[in-house]
Amino acid sequence: MRLSWLELNDFRSYVRLLWTPHPDVNVLVGRNASGKTNLLEAVGYLASLRSFRKVPDGVLVRTGADRAVVRGELAGEGTSTLIEVETPAAGRRRAQVNRERLGRISDLLGVVRSITFLPDDLDLVKRGPAYRRDMLDAAAVQIWPAAHRDQQEYERSLRQRNSLLKQMGNRADRVSLQVWDDRLAHAGGLLMARRAAVVRAVEERTGAFYRELSGDSTRVVIDYRSTWGAEAAGDPAGWQAALGDALAAARQADLDRRLSTVGPHRDDVVLLLGGRDSRIRASQGEQRSLALALRLATHRAVEESVGAAPLLLLDDVFSELDAHRSAALSRILPDAQTFVTTARSEDVPLRGRRWELSGGELR
Ligand SMILES: Nc1ncnc2c1ncn2[C@@H]1O[C@H](COP(=O)(O)OP(=O)(O)O)[C@@H](O)[C@H]1O
Ligand SMILES: [Mg+2]
Repeated sequence: MRLSWLELNDFRSYVRLLWTPHPDVNVLVGRNASGKTNLLEAVGYLASLRSFRKVPDGVLVRTGADRAVVRGELAGEGTSTLIEVETPAAGRRRAQVNRERLGRISDLLGVVRSITFLPDDLDLVKRGPAYRRDMLDAAAVQIWPAAHRDQQEYERSLRQRNSLLKQMGNRADRVSLQVWDDRLAHAGGLLMARRAAVVRAVEERTGAFYRELSGDSTRVVIDYRSTWGAEAAGDPAGWQAALGDALAAARQADLDRRLSTVGPHRDDVVLLLGGRDSRIRASQGEQRSLALALRLATHRAVEESVGAAPLLLLDDVFSELDAHRSAALSRILPDAQTFVTTARSEDVPLRGRRWELSGGELR
């Protein structure tokens, strides 16, 4: 899939931008705060409907404006799709595909697909398990757009169950609690089946990309550590049954602690490099390569399952890599429409179109 053109109105620092990117590699060169990341963010926003900087949507609206509009046309195999997302500073967002208003904005998920690598992705490796759970869930949405609704359903059920436990503690009504257990187990089963599938789809490839980047033979293992003892329950129904059992077994503890102590929201995902926990045992350079390898592996996994290469967004990645890793990265980049930002043109050893970004304009 390729973005044929992109139009921004009052998005972040852009009053208005109309851009026709190259179908292959686009290198965006510009000084600090020239709007490079903002532009990538707009492309990623069409694909995931959220900012990869994890800010509320309203922040995307240019200061002083009342709404941001991002439009673009996507070219696929013999088709083209016109997409539009309107984000008000406050209130409901609206989306259109081929000029038809979508009932739910989340119906847009799956129309554009993108994978992003950001300097902050180091957090995937360095920080707590929530970052890695999020990564698996976001990858699942790129592969199966319906995953979005199940994730929301899980969060909602979890909030309700927790608030019931918090209010009532040991006096909680068992029947109401059972209702939330069932809903949590149902949504959690789907969530878990997808996480397991993502791990299977990216684990080996992450290792292969890591070895290309690092030039060594280190083994990579993605070790999903469940809090609820579910080992290879298989399909969603299997995971659902296992989670239902675990919730029942944890009920007294949950009543005592007034908190849901088991479930996918408490699971850990450990990234092992050569058998060691990369969170505490890897150097910063190794951690960066691992995060990048994970993103590239996810890109490949999404491409394989949907049959088209997602857009690839690389924000300021080359400046952080040594010459060996830069060369390796340019060798292994997928055949996809790619958007690369940099403050220093010479840091990016890629062929492709170079764009100079200044004063909110691209040349
Ligand atoms: N909602 C907004 N309205 C106006 N300007 C914004 C908004 N959000 C960010 N900016 C501005 O965008 C600039 C940063 O752009 P960014 O794309 O992050 O730069 P870089 O080229 O370094 O990646 C800053 O000057 C910031 O003030
Ligand atoms: Mg930036």
